[in-house]
Amino acid sequence: MDFSGMFLTMLAGILFLYLLRRVISHHRRSSSNLPLPPGTMGWPYVGETFQLYSQDPNVFFASKQKRYGSVFKTHVLGCPCVMISSPEAAKFVLVTKSHLFKPTFPASKERMLGKQAIFFHQGDYHTKLRKLVLRAFMPQAISDMVPDIESIAQDSLKTWDGTMINTYQEMKTYTFNVALLSIFGKDEVLYREDLKRCYYILEKGYNSMPINLPGTLFNKAMKARKELSQILARILSERRQNIGSSHNDLLGSFMGDKEELTDEQIADNIIGVIFAARDTTASVMTWILKYLADNPNVLEAVTEEQMAIRKGKEVGECLTWGDTKKMPITSRVIQETLRVASILSFTFREAVEDVEYEGYLIPKGWKVLPLFRNIHHSADIFSNPGKFDPSRFEVAPKPNTFMPFGNGTHSCPGNELAKLEMSIMIHHITTKYRWSIVGASDGIQYGPFALPQNGLPILLARKSEIDV
Ligand code: HEM
Repeated sequence: MDFSGMFLTMLAGILFLYLLRRVISHHRRSSSNLPLPPGTMGWPYVGETFQLYSQDPNVFFASKQKRYGSVFKTHVLGCPCVMISSPEAAKFVLVTKSHLFKPTFPASKERMLGKQAIFFHQGDYHTKLRKLVLRAFMPQAISDMVPDIESIAQDSLKTWDGTMINTYQEMKTYTFNVALLSIFGKDEVLYREDLKRCYYILEKGYNSMPINLPGTLFNKAMKARKELSQILARILSERRQNIGSSHNDLLGSFMGDKEELTDEQIADNIIGVIFAARDTTASVMTWILKYLADNPNVLEAVTEEQMAIRKGKEVGECLTWGDTKKMPITSRVIQETLRVASILSFTFREAVEDVEYEGYLIPKGWKVLPLFRNIHHSADIFSNPGKFDPSRFEVAPKPNTFMPFGNGTHSCPGNELAKLEMSIMIHHITTKYRWSIVGASDGIQYGPFALPQNGLPILLARKSEIDV
């Protein structure tokens, strides 16, 4: 068969499959007698993926919402989807009816992070893991980490002093080191370099095409993933030989469980936590430095608040957990950054059965995307939503309108640690350093989190008049 013959046969095949799917889905819909949400599904198979990615994805979501309302259907990345952008609908999917919507990720991502990782599960196994993760990240557990996080922040700042840095890249190193501290305790320095080397290869492959052939980024990442498991197996065996010593970190929590987790389950969840903890927190820290640089009045207020804490201490005296809880202005800056930047624009779920929502059918197997950014940027909820204005958080936001850490059964168990490491970094950077943005500062890139253009290059220098 010549090329055009093959092409026509393929096209006919695709059309046939498409029509078959429509017939099957029509049959199922008519059996439930409910309409699908409004919206368009685009071309067979490709759906509206090009429209989504040919512009800022948030423009796509916002224009759809304007046209069809807060619940609409579309078809992207090979999947029929229902997108939701009202607080009530997000609560329905993530909290009240969360058992009807399971988390969903592409199979290649599951393989890379590890199938046993917490994000991919529902039910008893998820509940058990969540208890162990929360035990390691609740305030009582992380409050002892303040001096160690402080020294990681101070070491980072010293290496940046007097140079031009890519804020996002450097913040990733900071948040990686804090994540390792929270997982392995003070032992983390022993494994830091090996873990870093493998993890950095893994992350390069994470967003690459999932082609597992020698030389591809994906293949290298899968090899690095294997090596990470071997390193973790060594760490586990060293801890097991050290009977009697107790550990207040995530690994200690996993190993101390009566119904033991397997080594594979522990490894998958450790890699998963590093993945969840590092780029998220680093992106938010990058936005914080940008918003503070763009808003000198806010920077001044934060600096004053932090200087007042510093002045109450002896030279070189450490911060305490209590200090980090007495930073109301800083805390509002963190909240407002989480809202405006909304680094996780949305999350994915999949309907496990046909679900009715407000008279519409969400068919079994369809993806459901709560659009956090649309909610955070709704003018009905936050007046003048594009403006960076931390004072809006002087009044607590209404329930289910502010979800930077998600909501319900899968909400972020690391949120206290994230806020703690951001507060500590803000304390040291505002009291001892100045920074200025290099080059144009208004672009946004998605990789996959929303980030200032080029990772925000800045020049950082120590304030000369301060005695530290
Ligand atoms: C500012 C930084 C962070 C942001 C914005 C963030 C955001 C989120 C969000 C929105 C979810 C829920 C996703 C969903 O429902 O599908 C989530 C889950 C999760 N986060 Fe975070 N996160 C941050 C930092 C961290 C840190 C520091 C850790 C660990 C130390 C962490 C560990 C996790 C884990 C393990 C889950 C999965 C929970 C589950 O499935 O039950 N995150 N995060």
